[in-house]
Amino acid sequence: MSKTNEDANADDQIHYTDHFTAGLELGFGEGFLSPGGQEEVAKIVKGIDFVGMEVLDIGVGLAQPACLLVEEHGAARVTGIDVETPVLKKAAETVKAHGLEDRVPLRLVEPGPLPFADESFDFVFSKDAIIHIPDTEALFNEIHRVLRPGGWVAVGDWYCSNEPFTKEMSAWVELLGLDFAMKPIEISKDQLGAVGFVDVESLDRNAWYTEVCRDLVGQQLRNHVLFF
Ligand SMILES: C[S@@+](CC[C@H](N)C(=O)[O-])C[C@H]1O[C@@H](n2cnc3c(N)ncnc32)[C@H](O)[C@@H]1O
Repeated sequence: MSKTNEDANADDQIHYTDHFTAGLELGFGEGFLSPGGQEEVAKIVKGIDFVGMEVLDIGVGLAQPACLLVEEHGAARVTGIDVETPVLKKAAETVKAHGLEDRVPLRLVEPGPLPFADESFDFVFSKDAIIHIPDTEALFNEIHRVLRPGGWVAVGDWYCSNEPFTKEMSAWVELLGLDFAMKPIEISKDQLGAVGFVDVESLDRNAWYTEVCRDLVGQQLRNHVLFF
């Protein structure tokens, strides 16, 4: 008997359990599993006219960023994909609360090739999810394939320096069982160029994120909680 996507997903280790996502929302705001909220989403897509666009959101999480792309930026439709069932269940609640069921379809996918025909989207968006995808060259090829000619990709994510992780960082990643596949931004930029993207730009958000982390640690110490 073959397995359904849902069965396969249930067997796998779930990283974004309800407990973990509730903790992240505590720090990052309702419906967000990543820092910066509405302002950071706006920064990632700054200068792009979304009106009428078909968008793909890779690693949709709890779907608040996807809903913002429709409500605040005018996207026609944002298809949100994710690999984890608990996350998608909560995402469906977010989408329903926004009344966007027709404009933010959600789909459980397997890691690997994107399950969409060539040239299906005008824009690919992703926030803090590509860190979980080790083979970025294959992913960027897939993104290029599903975009229409002239399409855009905009990604917010964590990147590292050329140095290996410090022992504290390695211990933290191991403790939490995170599947982080962080790499230097230059590698991703080269890969994007190699698969055919042009005008590749990046914005360093290190200073901003350092402040976010300081605030979060301060908040946790004040409230005696540790959400990670
Ligand atoms: C840090 S969360 C960010 C969620 C959302 N983009 C946000 O900013 O709130 C990362 C998300 O990526 C998803 N993810 C991990 N690997 C993935 C893959 N190969 N394809 C799609 N989504 C993936 C996780 O399940 C999780 O929901």
